[in-house]
Amino acid sequence: MSALEKHIETDKKLIDDFIKVHFAKAGYDKKFPHNKFSLSDAMLYTATTPGKRIRPFMLMLTAESLGFNDKEKLLPFAASIELIHSYSLIHDDLPSMDNDSLRRGKPTNHIVFGEATAILAGDALLAEAFVMLSDKKYRGGFDDEKIIEIIKEFSYASGGGGLVEGQFHDVNSFGELLSLEKIEYINEKKTASLMSAACAAGAILSGAGKSAVNDFKKFGKYIGLAFQSVDDVLGITGSREIIGKTAGIDKTNDKPTVAGNIGLEKTGKLIKEYNRKALSYLNRTGAETGMFIELINYLTDRIY
Ligand code: IPE
Ligand code: IPE
Ligand code: MG
Ligand code: MG
Repeated sequence: MSALEKHIETDKKLIDDFIKVHFAKAGYDKKFPHNKFSLSDAMLYTATTPGKRIRPFMLMLTAESLGFNDKEKLLPFAASIELIHSYSLIHDDLPSMDNDSLRRGKPTNHIVFGEATAILAGDALLAEAFVMLSDKKYRGGFDDEKIIEIIKEFSYASGGGGLVEGQFHDVNSFGELLSLEKIEYINEKKTASLMSAACAAGAILSGAGKSAVNDFKKFGKYIGLAFQSVDDVLGITGSREIIGKTAGIDKTNDKPTVAGNIGLEKTGKLIKEYNRKALSYLNRTGAETGMFIELINYLTDRIY
């Protein structure tokens, strides 16, 4: 295992444990006698199934790369972005969206719990992220201004100017021939927004100034564009076992993707270009870059 993989494994465990303890205290586990499962069963089914935990990891790594090393204090912020991501996955897989039956190697939320519960579990996860972010017991000594700034970043990135806007254009473009520019716009919104917000939060928590926060947001944007293009390549070349999702679903949905538009070879080159741009912004931040360079390679090498 490389130093990066060890780092990810350590943080993953901290994040998952934090989410489990938070939910154990939250009280969403009530069941009527006729219910087979509770709301938290449906929420945690997706939120704690093994995944890469890249967004919370990016938040923590950003803060650490700028010299803030108190992981305990970063965890509520890191965990909250994973809750937002988990909600987005549940809704993304719904029959009215991508209509997928496999996620993180397991049947999707709506397959297990039914569509109505999956929608509600997603809604509740999104709201819970903001419960977590604004909870005084998780404040960790950070001042209110920083917390409000992070809530602003996360809510904007999740909503009509970010992830939801991207998903809107994504699901309403099945069967359309879109330009590369439009596909990149969708990818920036649906995927890069949250990564960019994760980096912004890590930088804000570490006490970075405005220009470093903005450079980290741009870094997150290009990492996100590369990440979605890698995901689309794997959607073509990866097996069900490797990706833990239905192989070839984009083709089934006739969805415009970067790889579908310009082909695998050019997509490989474009991913390198995104990574180069990400690095150029990272280099401006004054952060320790070593682990991020490893992360970029680790995420990109998944296609080779
Ligand atoms: C899947 O995200 C959705 C995309 C934006 C491509 P991840 O690939 O990070 O999914 P998990 O969290 O590892 O399952
Ligand atoms: C990723 O959507 C974006 C979100 C989930 C918000 P995709 O539909 O491209 O991702 P996968 O391949 O289902 O993970
Ligand atoms: Mg989708
Ligand atoms: Mg999908």
